[in-house]
Amino acid sequence: MLLQSIITALTVFGSILVQAIPALQLRQSAPPKSPPDFAIQQTLNISTGNPSKCAAGIRYFLQPIDHATYDGTVGDGSTFYQQFEVIDKYFKPRGLILFFQSTENANMVCLEQLAGPAWAAGLGALVVVLEHRYFGISCPYRLNYTEMATWPVPLLKPLTLDNVLLDSVTFYPGQPTMEDSRVYLVQGAGHTADIIMEDPADSDGLKEARGAYLETMKA
Ligand SMILES: *[C@@H]1O[C@H](CO)[C@@H](O)[C@H](O)[C@H]1NC(C)=O
Ligand SMILES: *[C@@H]1O[C@H](CO)[C@@H](O)[C@H](O)[C@H]1NC(C)=O
Repeated sequence: MLLQSIITALTVFGSILVQAIPALQLRQSAPPKSPPDFAIQQTLNISTGNPSKCAAGIRYFLQPIDHATYDGTVGDGSTFYQQFEVIDKYFKPRGLILFFQSTENANMVCLEQLAGPAWAAGLGALVVVLEHRYFGISCPYRLNYTEMATWPVPLLKPLTLDNVLLDSVTFYPGQPTMEDSRVYLVQGAGHTADIIMEDPADSDGLKEARGAYLETMKA
């Protein structure tokens, strides 16, 4: 019964996204640039200290700070460490990937506290949560979240919806058998309306980011 209702929920959610796509007038554009593979691998090996105490353990993904201007270099001015957690024990090759965009929290909410693992057990899915940029320990420019009230305003410039969406597009949790998997999105950060609703005032950057995001999250 649970599995059946999950599948129904996913099907409904998936069809909402699919229906939204034609309305978005997808623009053809190059995929956003990622840091070199070796640097990504090295970053996956760095300990995050696991402040949320997530049972499956957590890692960092090396993420460009500003996707639109990213030039492929690695360092404090161009990349930052973005925390994530993966539960792969239920995953069957070519199975679904349930992707959770984390909410805007001081501490990332672990997958163990979300519905994802229960769904994954029934679906043979991989389940992933990615911390929201500029929250918790996923802060660019070595900014300390506890001191956010004193952050220099110019450093907040890359905190845009475009960049949040493209974080999900470039993110790769390092699972070798997931290439053929379909991704289902669970937007925890309250950006669902921003993604589905188009506004004439949207910048070209946002339109492109939205298109790339929906293309990645295709059901
Ligand atoms: C990451 O850590 C593993 C295990 O310690 C090691 O084999 C691998 O070489 C490391 N990769 C990089 C890029 O540092
Ligand atoms: C962040 O700031 C708080 C409050 O100033 C401090 O206690 C903490 O040690 C800082 N964390 C890091 C990693 O520097």
